[in-house]
Amino acid sequence: MRILFVASEIFPLAKTGGLADVCASLPRELAAMGHDVRLVLPAYPGARAGLEAAGPQIPVQELPGVGCIPGRLPGTGLPVVLVEAARWFDRPGGPYGDTRGRDWPDNAERFHGFARASCAIAGDRAGLGWRPDLVHCHDWQTGLVPALLSLEGSRPATVFTVHNQSFLGRFDRAQFAALGLPAAWWSPEALEFYGDFSFLKAGLVFADQLTTVSPTYARELQTPEFGCGLDGLLRHRAADFTGILNGIDTEVWNPATDTYLRQCYDSATVAAGKRANKAAVQAELGLPAVGRIPLLVMISRLVEQKGVDLVAELIERWSDRALQWALLGSGELQWERRLEALAAAWPERVAVRIGYDEGLAHRLEAGGDLFLMPSRFEPCGLNQMYSQRYGTVPVVRSTGGLADSVVDVFAAGSGAAGTGLVFDAPEAEALATALERGLPLYRNRAAWHALQRNAMAADFGWRRSAEAYLEVYRRALAAAGGGHG
Ligand code: ADP
Ligand code: GLC
Repeated sequence: MRILFVASEIFPLAKTGGLADVCASLPRELAAMGHDVRLVLPAYPGARAGLEAAGPQIPVQELPGVGCIPGRLPGTGLPVVLVEAARWFDRPGGPYGDTRGRDWPDNAERFHGFARASCAIAGDRAGLGWRPDLVHCHDWQTGLVPALLSLEGSRPATVFTVHNQSFLGRFDRAQFAALGLPAAWWSPEALEFYGDFSFLKAGLVFADQLTTVSPTYARELQTPEFGCGLDGLLRHRAADFTGILNGIDTEVWNPATDTYLRQCYDSATVAAGKRANKAAVQAELGLPAVGRIPLLVMISRLVEQKGVDLVAELIERWSDRALQWALLGSGELQWERRLEALAAAWPERVAVRIGYDEGLAHRLEAGGDLFLMPSRFEPCGLNQMYSQRYGTVPVVRSTGGLADSVVDVFAAGSGAAGTGLVFDAPEAEALATALERGLPLYRNRAAWHALQRNAMAADFGWRRSAEAYLEVYRRALAAAGGGHG
């Protein structure tokens, strides 16, 4: 199958979160299974700089000032096309906002432009000499692609994946008019959304098949509590909507070969390996070098979704306990300040690093004892899976992909299959209770090792999920061929 991935983040060229990891590792698995996969990404400055084997820019005739730069995704050999348009993508800051995290005011125009260029590529009108059978789009930034392709006479099949429903790509009527979208789309059956319009909704309405990144989140999205105003639409399209748990890149996240670590290890050497990595990360962060104290780590975008407040509250409440906390993240200023204040108040117990640091993320996974993920909602979540592979026991709230990928060690019937600690209420008290249950295990060496080994044995490779995507692709091809194709 010829498959075109369209995304606003692809690791390592552009990343703010798990979207980037998935949009690199799923295509890689599909390619390994023999499919012809190519990727499209905006030409942010970092992506241009990182592109391997970059070819000369090819102008896109139907879009003045827009060009395509073909190249390869570093470390994978996968063909990537960067959509170059200096006015939209050549600026400092992140993919969606400036260096202070404020959204770019022209995001509707930027990602509409990106969508149009992606349609030109999909229709082989961009001089690349290749035409996909199917286009796989991700999150609101690409929601207009299935909509715009639906206007074309002969088109590829389309699949739209929701990685996070809370980002609606919502803009007002003036922006709708400025983009020159078909007037008929200003309707509740199409893009209109409570007096505005939504790029995400465009994807959900127009793609042949829909997916999201875990079975539990797929069910949650069909309820008013989690659906962000689009639960009715998803119930309506339930027959075309599948939840598929993300896999992880087992080469990038492999404690046996990870070059970021002081000492590599596997499940046979986990005790010694983690001891060495814990000492190294304590030294790196300026925490006292004590081996027996549990080290609780968190790596996260610092936003309400992730339950940072629960962790902050618990650190305060337990400030007199023999525990160490190491937190890495960036995001909203209020959370960054709150965490920094905790580190300032208890420097012997709490280390905080604000910023984005790939290497430290790996070292924390290797050196930590427990990994905290008390998310209010979590479409899939990757770190709880990385943690298991690194023998770091995840402590998660039972929601979305966390519920689908962590088995509570005390759950009735889980027996030897437990891989972490799971709690329900989105409250510091519930997180505290989960830890109170887990910490005695930590002090029981044999029980802890058994739990670590179970976690490390869990299979989060992509093969099974990639096969599930291929099923969805086949359904999309049938729908596109039989319907409007
Ligand atoms: P989300 O996409 O909602 O942020 P995921 O768990 O799916 O959540 O993915 C987060 C990814 O981003 C993981 O690969 C994680 O290691 C990484 N990450 C998040 N914050 C940081 C940070 N400050 N430094 C390094 N990596 C980070
Ligand atoms: C989103 C979600 C996260 C998921 C990631 C990759 O950023 O918040 O839960 O793991 O996408 O699908």
